[in-house]
Amino acid sequence: MNYEHILTELENSTLIITINRESKLNALTYQTIQEVGSAVKEANETNSARCIIITGAGSKAFVAGADISEFASFSVPEGEKLAREGQVVFDYIENSDIPVIAAVNGFALGGGCELAMACHMRVASDNAKFGQPEVKLGLIPGYGGTQRLPQLIGKNKAIELLITADMLDANEALKWGLVNHVVSSDELMVTCKGMANKIAKQAPLAVSACIKTVNSFYNKNEDGFEEEKKMFGESFGTNDFKEGSQAFLNKRKPEFTGA
Ligand code: COA
Repeated sequence: MNYEHILTELENSTLIITINRESKLNALTYQTIQEVGSAVKEANETNSARCIIITGAGSKAFVAGADISEFASFSVPEGEKLAREGQVVFDYIENSDIPVIAAVNGFALGGGCELAMACHMRVASDNAKFGQPEVKLGLIPGYGGTQRLPQLIGKNKAIELLITADMLDANEALKWGLVNHVVSSDELMVTCKGMANKIAKQAPLAVSACIKTVNSFYNKNEDGFEEEKKMFGESFGTNDFKEGSQAFLNKRKPEFTGA
């Protein structure tokens, strides 16, 4: 598919999605969000990658928020529609069978912090800054920020960040559990690709089952322990389980097919 606001590149088995609006600090327009969603969906539907990395163009910003110029004159119904449609995409990313890593290469503010939080893991460069500054604009986060921020850093710190509009630098984000690792800018993509390569060696159905069962913990309509029992059982019916266990017993490397 041809995209206007993002770049996509398949490297080995990792799909790299780069939000490509550097002059606007990669701010997310409606179209940008839809393009990111389409790229993640296409990878899931065609099973064309074992891991996805999302990053921003340039060295200053991952994403500096939703594009303020786009919604500055929105009405109440338009605002609600924007949040509703954005959340569909961010929920899809969170529930993607293929793991998604955010390579946070600078500002991750507003929708940028929300996009990073919808990913399964976050690696930050040491110049990264995280925040939800929507209250400065008379708004609140609309792409799941009020829900995912407390999941990741706890209610206490989440409310502080939401109502003061303060930013966390990369090391503070690490301390609060918002990111998995902090590395130098030069090491950012190397680190993320290394994590992606490690994931690519594991059984794909088991990897997606881990994501699904962990997400169940946060889904009020699901019982995570029940999901775990069900998916643990289902694992025994996969070729990958047969391959993984036989490879272990025969002291060889497994070759997983995702079936
Ligand atoms: N929406 C639209 N445009 C944005 C944007 C956003 N969220 N964030 C940055 N931009 C644009 C700026 O308008 C500017 O465009 P211009 O050169 O055409 O004027 C360009 O990106 C560079 O940004 P600038 O503000 O000049 O960079 P800076 O280094 O002085 O400041 C930030 C960086 C991130 C602190 C500042 O851009 C900012 O506060 N952005 C908005 C953050 C925000 O509120 N996000 C939540 C939105 S809901």
